Amino acid sequence: PQKVLFDTDPGVDDAAALLFLHRAAALDLVGITTVFGNADIATCTRNALFLKALFGIEAPVAEGAGRDLRGRAGPVPVHVHGENGLGDAPLSGIDLPRSDPRPAHQLIAETLRAHPGEVRVIAVGRLTNLALALDADPGLVELARDIVLMGGAFAGGNGNVTPAAEANMIGDPDAADIVFGAPWKVTAVGLDVTRNILLPRRVLADWADSGDPGLEFLAAAKRHYVAYHDRFGVDGCYVHDPAAVAYALDPGLFEITEGPVRVIRDGIAMGQTIQADPAIPYPPGSAWEGRPVQNVARQANASAILDLFEET
Ligand code: BDR
Ligand code: CA
Repeated sequence: PQKVLFDTDPGVDDAAALLFLHRAAALDLVGITTVFGNADIATCTRNALFLKALFGIEAPVAEGAGRDLRGRAGPVPVHVHGENGLGDAPLSGIDLPRSDPRPAHQLIAETLRAHPGEVRVIAVGRLTNLALALDADPGLVELARDIVLMGGAFAGGNGNVTPAAEANMIGDPDAADIVFGAPWKVTAVGLDVTRNILLPRRVLADWADSGDPGLEFLAAAKRHYVAYHDRFGVDGCYVHDPAAVAYALDPGLFEITEGPVRVIRDGIAMGQTIQADPAIPYPPGSAWEGRPVQNVARQANASAILDLFEET
C-alpha cells in the first residue's frame, strides 16, 4: 500500500477523510499531524487523538502550528464545525492516547527521510506545517513521493471564506505559496471539484444506524455541518477533505490541468489561487516564471468518488 502522512485540522470533513484513509486497504497511514484551522490547535490535536482512539488507528499524532507564518490565528469557523471542531458531537467515553512529543514539522521531515520517495502527504488544512518542514529541511522536496492537498478555488469567484479564497489557502497564504512553489509535485483538489461532490442526508442516516462506532460518530458530527449547508440549498454536505483521499486512491476520477500556481498573499484577493497556462507565452518576469508545474483538479466524476467513499 501507499504510505500516507495526513496533515489535518479536524474538523468534521477531516474526520470523515481520516476514517476513509484508515479503512482504504490501498493506503497505509504512517502519521497524523495537526494544524490550527477548523478549531484552535489544542482542540484540533485533541480531536485527532480522539479520532485515533475511536477509529483504532496506530499511527502517531504530532501537534503542529497554532498560527500562520505571520503569527496570525484568525477566527475559528464555529458556524461550520461547531465549538468543539467536530460538530459539537460528544467526545465522551474514550481515553485519549498521548500525542507524539515531536512537533509536526519534525515528524513530517523524519517520516519522509525514513522512506525516501515513498510517502505521499495528504494535507487537508492550512499548509503551515509543510512550509515549516521545508524551511527546516529543504531537501524534503526530493524525499516526498508527492503532496495531495485539499485547497484552493481556481475558477475565480468561487471561494468559501471570501469570493476569492478557500479556507485552507486564506488561513496561511504565505505557506500555501511556498508549498506550490517548491520543486515537488503538488496536486490541489479544491472547491472547483469538492463543491460538486454532495454527500446526501440519506447516507448520513444509514451511518447513524450502522452499529459501526466510527460511522455513528461521523453521522453525529455531521449534523451541525449539514445544517450549515442548508443555506446553500444543499441536501447533505459537500465532501471536501475526503476528495483528496479519493484522488490518492483513484486519480483517474479527476480531470487535471498542469501549470505553475501562485497564491495571492495580501489585499482583497488574499488566499486566491491562480494557475498559469504553460502554453501561453506570458511576458518575461511574470510572477509565475520559474515556478514548478503543479496539478490542479478542475473536474471530477462525483458519483464514482461518492461510491468509492461509501464503499470504503
Ligand atoms: C476546507 O476548509 C475546512 O473547513 C475543511 O476542513 C476543508 O479542509 C474547505 O474549504
Ligand atoms: Ca480540513
